[in-house]
Amino acid sequence: MRIETGLLSTIGKTPLVLLKKLYPGLSSTFYAKLEMFNPGGSSKDRTAWFMLSNAMDEGKLTQNSTIIESSSGNMAIGLAQVCRYLGLHLIVVTDPKINRRTLDLLRVYGTQIERVTKADSSGNYLNNRLERVRQLLDTISDSYWPNQYSNELNPAAHYETMKEIVNSCPEPPDYILAATSTCGTIMGCARYVREHHLKTKIVAVDAVGSVIFGSSKCRRLIPGHGAGKISDLLDESFIDHVLHVSDKECVIGCRRLLQREAILAGGSAGAVVMAAEKLQAIIPHDSNCVMIFSDSGERYLETIFNDKWVENQFDRIDESVKKEPETSIEPDMTPVLVSGHDLSIDHSAGKNGSTKNYS
Ligand SMILES: Cc1ncc(COP(=O)(O)O)c(C=O)c1O
Repeated sequence: MRIETGLLSTIGKTPLVLLKKLYPGLSSTFYAKLEMFNPGGSSKDRTAWFMLSNAMDEGKLTQNSTIIESSSGNMAIGLAQVCRYLGLHLIVVTDPKINRRTLDLLRVYGTQIERVTKADSSGNYLNNRLERVRQLLDTISDSYWPNQYSNELNPAAHYETMKEIVNSCPEPPDYILAATSTCGTIMGCARYVREHHLKTKIVAVDAVGSVIFGSSKCRRLIPGHGAGKISDLLDESFIDHVLHVSDKECVIGCRRLLQREAILAGGSAGAVVMAAEKLQAIIPHDSNCVMIFSDSGERYLETIFNDKWVENQFDRIDESVKKEPETSIEPDMTPVLVSGHDLSIDHSAGKNGSTKNYS
């Protein structure tokens, strides 16, 4: 069943915009795919709709089914929107880290929220959340778990994202940068590239502290990208470069994006912004780079865009983060945030293990 109706038919077809002001002094051309234009505000609208509509086509779920998924963020909202529209019951299994805004949004969509309150020995909730999902699946008849970390329909949804990008550009981009968690976005784009024999190199942007590309686990503050487990969907043979970006860099990237391009985007977009700048050190001049910005910054007003929160997390904010000079001719080598020690940003790709070339 393919339902071309109402709000859900507006998912996808998001704009691709040229960013002229973000990197003064850099010779490459930068475009951004603005996934915040999806009706639920993120790229996960695509995934939610694609997974559920295909499951319906295949008869895996019916009008009476209960959808159960573990998520604290955009996936939960994407599913909430689709389930509201289709009249399906949705249970989202989440944990105390979920932010207030997401919780409020889920409530207004009518989602049932199951909160896991016990962390495992490493302080993570993921395993207990998955355990709760399994319990619910066992006890609720006609229940369906989209399981975004291993469902091939997740990357399949983003095959279309890359197709849209290619169709909007005069020629296929030299580089595509996407933040990673389930790896659905990047693998969908990468498959499109491979199947169409495009020259585009695939650049994964991961969080420092995420284990996806073999780094060690540490505390991460910014939700969205990064993961505490390696996605079943990842095939590293598709990935050309991996760049790791810290929480502080995400904040800087988000604020630069807002100040220079008036784009209010979420934390992973900030990561992609910083990664694209790092990438310039190892790629030819005048490359065409497309960045995927996965969501809007509105859900981060109390964190990334809140000076108090940033001060609490990262010691102190440099005045320049609040007010940037009107013009700047050089690529930014100075950090927007400073504290006595480690807030300076490594702009030379390769240092701190931030760049890994898989090619
Ligand atoms: C804001 C944001 N950026 C990036 C990602 C990573 O996307 P993917 O799960 O397709 O790897 C997510 C995933 O939830 C996200 O919410």
